[in-house]
Amino acid sequence: CGIVGYIGKRDAAPLLLEGLQRLEYRGYDSAGVAIAARSGALKTVKAKGRVRDLQARLPKRFAGATGIAHTRWATHGVPSDANAHPHLDEAGKVAVVHNGIIDNAADLRAKLAADGVELASETDTEVLAHLVGRSAATTLEAAVRETLQLVEGTYGIAVLHADFPDRIVVARNGSPVVLGIGEREMFVASDVAALVSHTRQVVTLDDGEMATVKADDYRTYTTEGSRTSPAPETVEWSPESYDLAGHDTYMHKEICEQADAVDRVLRGRIEDRFSTVHLGGLNLDAREARAVRRVKILGCGTSYHAGMIGAQLIEELARVPADAEPASEFRYRNPVVDPDTLYVAVSQSGETYDVLAAVQELKRKGARVLGVVNVVGSAIARETDGGIYVHAGPEVCVVSTKCFTNTVVAFGLLALHLGRIRDLSVADGRRVIEGLRRLPDQIAEMLRGEDAIRTLAKEYAHARSMMFIGRVRGYPVAREAALKLKEVSYIHAEAYPASELKHGPLALIEPEVPTVAIVPDDELLEKNRAALEEIKAREGRILAVAHRRQDKADHTIVVPRSEPELDPILMGIPLQLLAYHTALELGRDIDKPRNLAKSVTVE
Ligand code: G6P
Repeated sequence: CGIVGYIGKRDAAPLLLEGLQRLEYRGYDSAGVAIAARSGALKTVKAKGRVRDLQARLPKRFAGATGIAHTRWATHGVPSDANAHPHLDEAGKVAVVHNGIIDNAADLRAKLAADGVELASETDTEVLAHLVGRSAATTLEAAVRETLQLVEGTYGIAVLHADFPDRIVVARNGSPVVLGIGEREMFVASDVAALVSHTRQVVTLDDGEMATVKADDYRTYTTEGSRTSPAPETVEWSPESYDLAGHDTYMHKEICEQADAVDRVLRGRIEDRFSTVHLGGLNLDAREARAVRRVKILGCGTSYHAGMIGAQLIEELARVPADAEPASEFRYRNPVVDPDTLYVAVSQSGETYDVLAAVQELKRKGARVLGVVNVVGSAIARETDGGIYVHAGPEVCVVSTKCFTNTVVAFGLLALHLGRIRDLSVADGRRVIEGLRRLPDQIAEMLRGEDAIRTLAKEYAHARSMMFIGRVRGYPVAREAALKLKEVSYIHAEAYPASELKHGPLALIEPEVPTVAIVPDDELLEKNRAALEEIKAREGRILAVAHRRQDKADHTIVVPRSEPELDPILMGIPLQLLAYHTALELGRDIDKPRNLAKSVTVE
């Protein structure tokens, strides 16, 4: 979901809508806006659907220089006009937009109903508006504070009150809130994307922090009321990095940016003299790094897949046992937290709730946790003891491409670092470094082959289902490629280790269920070829991703040779293009696939 607010001298509605459009990638099933008119009265418009549906519904006269707005990804209650934010109290004086989940909403709703309040929606958020509205406190700040004391759960909120039209009150607990400081105007948002075209000076609130934002000043304090003084920071990402730059979709733009993105994650980190890398943010000295006996990587979705490749890199290069697990599963199985294990939380946004909650659980148990994160200053980056920023630049498309690649490269760096303080030789260190350095050019070379992949996508776009197979290094590549295809094309896809095919999934193979096979020229080449034979014998069609043409395959996408450990990085890229062109062929909404959101900040 996305929050944006404005207070200043300009007309708020167009600025809020522009902000919402920039946040739409975070949720897009309904949207709404509330404005305080000069008289103080609140005017609200909401619409099920996209921001453009909201825009179409705005009356001609919708003036006011203070307002809050929201784009929603449904958790409690179906997407509808009534469930869209902002939510109002009964008197229509208080408007609230909210990201997160109020866990005790059912109790609070029941209490309000018992007091005779008529609830207008099915949402958890609405209770906040009523509670603020019914508070006997004399200031808006106190009313919000009182309300938050009754609430259990996570929130980033912005509150507007007709009796206090000179301010917006915001609060954060588990869901991001940033203030954007302009020239005699202020913005609030859940994501800097909404405000970078107006200001790059921001203040990020911490959990448990609130702020009163006025046109030319702001004040921050804790939910208990004591003043805080967070320093304003300058956002690195420029407004242009959020533009489509001539591409039709963000997914395409972000796929094409990967050569530059990989260059950025490597920049300044390679130390040729020792054939190693320097990772300044790790906060792990050589002795501590040597004491690590095991690495556990946690993430969700695409980041989890990047972590799977990361674990293999760490095992191969550093010979430290490593594995990846979905953060959501990890935190609920009462994990054994071991002092010699290094935990690594992976998240593009740095906000995914399941990952954040896993980090908090680990820290509570005294573990050392690093973050591999794209968004600087995000919750997971702040909560971890150190880490690696992947520097991919903003990723707007809901499905992750360039951040996946950069995350894997960041793991390559971490693996090299851990390897070189152990037994990885200088020569092997240098070999992998040279491999990493070649990646940007090799990626650029692969992207030049896009036309051929477009043709292949046409050929496979009408498959009923698709199988993705690979072994060892190729398996997580297959997993991620299958996920990508599912997310953007809605074609069912399944990934399996090629070795497991004969133990079950081979039953699915028929001409309408083609297989994408990851077949690097490594020590498993012959084994992989045997799997292709098994499929061919069942009349399955095969698209191979390989270092040279595979005669058992109907088609082969040939990728440049890298160092074997780095093969997964290059092999994933043409499959991003395959997912993209398949979705394009099927006319899908590529940047905003149905039912998905960029960051899932709720459980
Ligand atoms: C959502 C997105 C996925 C993403 C996952 C983890 O489910 O739809 O594309 O991989 O969250 O996001 P993160 O920001 O933690 O990497």
